[in-house]
Amino acid sequence: MKRVSLFPAIGLILAIFIPILLFGSTRVYSLDENNCLSCHGNPGLTKTNGEGTKISLYVNEEAVNSGAHRFIDCTTCHTSEPHEVITPLTKLSLAEKCGSCHQYQYKLHLQSVHGQQLARGNQDVATCVDCHSPDYNPHSIVRVLQYDAPTYKKNIARTCANCHNNEELMANYAIVEKVYESYTRSFHGKAMQLGTYEISQLDKATCTNCHGVHDIKSVSDPTSPVAGLENLAKTCEQCHPGAGVEFASGFLGHEEASPQNIPAAHYTEIIFTTLLISVVSFGALVVFFATVRFSVNRWRE
Ligand code: HEC
Ligand code: HEC
Ligand code: HEC
Ligand code: HEC
Ligand code: HEC
Ligand code: HEC
Ligand code: HEC
Repeated sequence: MKRVSLFPAIGLILAIFIPILLFGSTRVYSLDENNCLSCHGNPGLTKTNGEGTKISLYVNEEAVNSGAHRFIDCTTCHTSEPHEVITPLTKLSLAEKCGSCHQYQYKLHLQSVHGQQLARGNQDVATCVDCHSPDYNPHSIVRVLQYDAPTYKKNIARTCANCHNNEELMANYAIVEKVYESYTRSFHGKAMQLGTYEISQLDKATCTNCHGVHDIKSVSDPTSPVAGLENLAKTCEQCHPGAGVEFASGFLGHEEASPQNIPAAHYTEIIFTTLLISVVSFGALVVFFATVRFSVNRWRE
């Protein structure tokens, strides 16, 4: 009797809490004081530009809700008359827009090898959203320390590789070194891969530890942290105390040793590999014959 009378009460509680759980949570995060998403939350919303191409005007609410700017209203970035401003922006004007608030990063970026090319109208190089959004979108900027952010330490090499692992793109700039491959092969790259605990990554070296972040320089620029042995040694010393010029001079950078390129390292590598293989094979043979002899002796007995 008693059990049956509980059902309406449970039903009432569920009827109140389920909608709160389902609908309450999505409105908590992002600011949208002017209800822009009532139109721009529609995936089909597009406009047609002068050349007749359709441009999507869809803003993914979920990405906005979990992004770094969820507490900034749309009109803070877009002005109170967003429909008066012509978009889309170029890579440079986009950086300018981000720079209106993030002045420090913007200034550094403009002086970097990427920023200087942007200023010349080059659209191949990195602008803010290339490194801060997983899908090149100003509405899905992820906080830098979020574990799935493109800027999270373990992910940085992949983020740079989006461009620097593109052979065709790099050939246009005469950058021939396979920088991503050589990094993943190096002890630093391997240590980063093997780091199991998030905290264990903090002392490992990735691209930005050697090249800088917003102030990345061309390697032929004498102020680059990897240009010349003195600068390079200082860069290593951040993590290898007292490393000095000698330590740094043993570093091949991204270059692969070959008979033409750094022959000493190439042949040393071959000698060591041959030595290692012969020592191990000799050891294996000794053990094999010892086992055979032992077994034969046992069998005879
Ligand atoms: C009633 C629906 C509606 C609302 C509300 C709305 N928009 Fe739009 N928005 C549009 C349409 C339609 C276009 C395309 C206009 C065109 O074809 O040029 C557009 C274009 C834009 C553009 C591209 C710029 C342009 O004119 O081409 C931006 C940026 C934009 N909206 C931002 C916003 C922001 C921010 C808000 C809130 C303050 C907002 N919109 C509110 C419908 C809306
Ligand atoms: C952190 C700053 C920032 C915030 C906050 C922001 N936007 Fe944007 N939005 C941008 C930038 C920068 C662009 C330009 C992207 C481009 O042109 O490539 C843009 C582009 C757009 C476009 C597309 C215009 C086009 O032609 O490509 C729409 C629509 C838009 N925003 C709507 C919104 C709405 C709606 C919100 C609030 C939910 C919002 N934005 C919040 C920075 C912001
Ligand atoms: C080449 C990739 C790259 C580009 C381009 C880039 N960033 Fe960053 N940014 C990073 C990385 C990596 C970090 C994390 C740095 C760290 O952990 O110390 C970062 C950190 C930040 C931070 C957090 C504070 C800080 O300085 O650590 C802000 C804000 C930021 N960037 C804004 C910008 C803006 C604005 C632009 C464009 C003008 C931009 N970034 C361009 C890679 C980039
Ligand atoms: C209207 C000012 C404004 C504009 C424009 C703006 N931001 Fe921000 N941004 C902020 C504020 C404020 C925060 C801090 C939010 C917080 O701490 O919750 C932030 C946070 C960030 C962070 C996270 C920093 C961290 O420590 O994790 C990054 C990355 C970032 N912005 C990049 C960008 C990029 C890229 C653009 C251009 C598309 C941009 N911002 C445009 C105000 C702005
Ligand atoms: C331990 C330090 C270190 C790390 C980590 C590192 N680099 Fe380098 N990088 C160098 C040095 C030193 C040079 C200059 C010598 C050379 O070209 O090999 C260089 C050169 C470069 C060049 C210019 C190559 C050319 O042919 O002109 C690019 C591009 C580059 N690095 C990108 C990256 C990227 C992307 C990553 C991460 C995937 C990375 N680097 C990781 C030290 C490092
Ligand atoms: C959107 C594409 C893109 C991304 C992302 C990008 N780069 Fe670049 N980067 C380029 C291009 C293109 C150049 C060539 C510019 C030139 O030489 O004029 C370049 C140049 C460089 C150079 C100078 C090479 C030289 O000639 O000495 C270095 C170093 C570098 N990038 C490092 C990085 C690092 C580290 C990251 C990640 C944190 C990164 N880049 C992310 C496109 C990108
Ligand atoms: C951000 C920190 C950091 C920077 C910068 C850095 N390293 Fe390392 N390096 C490490 C760590 C951590 C290890 C140990 C990897 C492991 O085995 O876990 C390591 C390992 C090495 C090793 C392997 C042998 C050993 O001592 O364990 C060599 C060689 C090395 N680094 C050379 C360099 C050179 C040369 C530079 C400068 C061009 C440099 N590193 C810059 C963090 C760094």
